[in-house]
Amino acid sequence: MKTSFEKIKRRVLISLQIRLARIWRECPFFIQGQMDIHPESPWYNHGFVRETGGFFPTIGREGREILDHDCWDGVRRDMIILLLRSLEERNVPGLFAELGVYRGGTARLIHNYAPERELHLFDTFAGFDARDATHDREVVAHEVDTTLFRDTGINLVKEAIKPKNHNVHFHQGYFQKH
Ligand SMILES: C[S@@+](CC[C@H](N)C(=O)[O-])C[C@H]1O[C@@H](n2cnc3c(N)ncnc32)[C@H](O)[C@@H]1O
Repeated sequence: MKTSFEKIKRRVLISLQIRLARIWRECPFFIQGQMDIHPESPWYNHGFVRETGGFFPTIGREGREILDHDCWDGVRRDMIILLLRSLEERNVPGLFAELGVYRGGTARLIHNYAPERELHLFDTFAGFDARDATHDREVVAHEVDTTLFRDTGINLVKEAIKPKNHNVHFHQGYFQKH
């Protein structure tokens, strides 16, 4: 069991990290590496981006927007966009689903880059369920802090995503993972 001192320490550290990342958000290299196809990267490669389309598929960028993710999470943002780009570039059919949406940080990224695809969002929209906490404690000896991720809701996520059409679908409930 984590003591409340450890919980407080962790929250203070996360909060400090977020504040530091905000200070350096315009030059994220200091916090986390930046990919060479990112215009702000020190290794930005114009030729490669011109040939390959960079973050956008060669068929064009019309209707596609790349939004910011959390300011400390630049590389994850870039990876998600590259994966989406690859699906679009190769015309892979299908829809998207995300289990674990929280406040919609990743969902807004996905929808705004690929609004033509259906996006199904699964979450309690009220934080971790006690059943997952019990499972993690018993199986992997990990203590889930069930007080985290409660500060959300479907309306808040809708507001974050600002859906461009009717392709975003919400599924609220507990979804068994084990
Ligand atoms: C780390 S957050 C997800 C972060 C999110 N992907 C983002 O981009 O910001 C984990 C989320 O998963 C949800 N979650 C975890 N286990 C779940 C389950 N079994 N059923 C439904 N929601 C679950 C929690 O409620 C929480 O909102």
